[in-house]
Amino acid sequence: MGLPDEPVFLRSNAIIEPLVDRFFAWMHIIAPVQASMNLANLQVPLLESYLQNPQVHLAASRNPALRGGYFVNIEESRSNEVADLLDGIKRDRADMLTFAAAVAEAESMLEQQATGFDLTPLYPKLPAALNGLVELAYDTNNQPSMRYIEPLVYTSPVYDRGRQSVQLSLDNGVERPFILSTPRLPGPDVLDLPRRFDHPGLDALFAARTAPTTLAALREALELDDAQAAQLATLLSDRPSLAPDRHIDSGGRIRYFGHACLLLQTPEVAIVTDPFISTDNRHGDRYTIDDLPDRIDYVLITHGHQDHIVLETLIPLRHRIGAVVVPRSSRGNMCDPSIGLYLKAIGFNVIEVDDFDEVPFEGGRIVATPFLGEHSDLDIRAKSTFIVQLAGASAFIGADSSGIDPVLYRYIRNHLGKVDMAFLGMECDGAPLTWLYQGLLTRPVTKKMSDSRKLSGSNAKQAADIMQELDADEAYIYAMGEESWQGHVMATTYTEDTYQLKQIDEFLGWCTDHGITAEHLFNKREWRW
Ligand SMILES: [Fe+2]
Ligand SMILES: [Fe+2]
Repeated sequence: MGLPDEPVFLRSNAIIEPLVDRFFAWMHIIAPVQASMNLANLQVPLLESYLQNPQVHLAASRNPALRGGYFVNIEESRSNEVADLLDGIKRDRADMLTFAAAVAEAESMLEQQATGFDLTPLYPKLPAALNGLVELAYDTNNQPSMRYIEPLVYTSPVYDRGRQSVQLSLDNGVERPFILSTPRLPGPDVLDLPRRFDHPGLDALFAARTAPTTLAALREALELDDAQAAQLATLLSDRPSLAPDRHIDSGGRIRYFGHACLLLQTPEVAIVTDPFISTDNRHGDRYTIDDLPDRIDYVLITHGHQDHIVLETLIPLRHRIGAVVVPRSSRGNMCDPSIGLYLKAIGFNVIEVDDFDEVPFEGGRIVATPFLGEHSDLDIRAKSTFIVQLAGASAFIGADSSGIDPVLYRYIRNHLGKVDMAFLGMECDGAPLTWLYQGLLTRPVTKKMSDSRKLSGSNAKQAADIMQELDADEAYIYAMGEESWQGHVMATTYTEDTYQLKQIDEFLGWCTDHGITAEHLFNKREWRW
């Protein structure tokens, strides 16, 4: 780059990896109750296991058959850095580790002493770390539980942004390794900054995709030293790379950006669902960050899984999003962190919705609709499908919701009328309970039990039932994690013989037999009317 005061833009293939304790950040390692449990029960034991035997972890990380397993993919020569990281966690995260131990202690105390009688005498027996942060309650079957008063926990020492950091680098198109289990260490091609996710300098940086700034201004906004500013300069360009057709001036348009991400547009409004967008614009086989409109009125989040709330896409868009529409949680269940609180704490404007709540906009509306299953039978309410009506068309945004009980979709149809296009996820052989929720479990589950409770969406029969109940004209299968730029989060490996793909074929055949237009989406697709 040239002089510090020349106009510059941020390259479209500049990526940000938001980290907490150097782990790739997602809801269950940021929302403080769940983050404490994951830190104590998963991350610390994982790092300890690595330090005992780095070579086993390295070999397992590189074994394709174990893709997506919880192994640390770091060379043994850098194990001293992992040891330093672990020491830092034990030193700086003592409040979280104490909190997690208190949860386990309190749960076993309740198990023994909450026997259907008055709970008042049990409050003094709670570990001090939980004082003021939980309410004890029975359900109507006298089963006791703790309700975490989550907004308070966010103001307690358990929520400390001090160990948030970001890594900025260029996406060189090489498939990234599975990222959820390996701490990201600093590297020569990476600008590693200890900044909170809500740091305003990050918004200044990403605003430079659509409007010019200067290196000097970015340096000040991000509080960089000379070496860091030189590294930042490699992420900048003297011209923008925005797509000229990113806005429309009449009618309606939907574009599929891969996985569960859709852009629904009219001249007046832009809505993006579950943003997870490629930054690599060299291929032409996909829409990228360059194809997004300059302003996004609403982002719709369907649920909290790590492939549906993707901070490396969301943080760069934060400054141009009007509001993120999120499903309301049950407020306080261990397994059900509030998506709203989580995103607010990172600096987003949030609208929380419940089933059948509406968000009107010029020429249309967003309606939250129920989401069924796909969460290992845990009592998780923070999940929603949506019906979006715009420019005279309606689309059902089904995400991973399943057809376990298809009658539910009849209620949606009765309440909101017929749907034109249904976007359905068919990941019908999902990961087992423990893959995602192990850290939150305070009682062990058997492998057999865990394997019986998968994170599964609809199979062919269930998808067909949904189509019949919704009375939808067109079916589009999406959210399968098949696109090449998602592997670091998804760890999916499909072959021709994969059960899910066979189920999709069966469903497509059913659609043909019933005169329904249907398609299995991959990479990119556009609908215009
Ligand atoms: Fe999911
Ligand atoms: Fe998903």
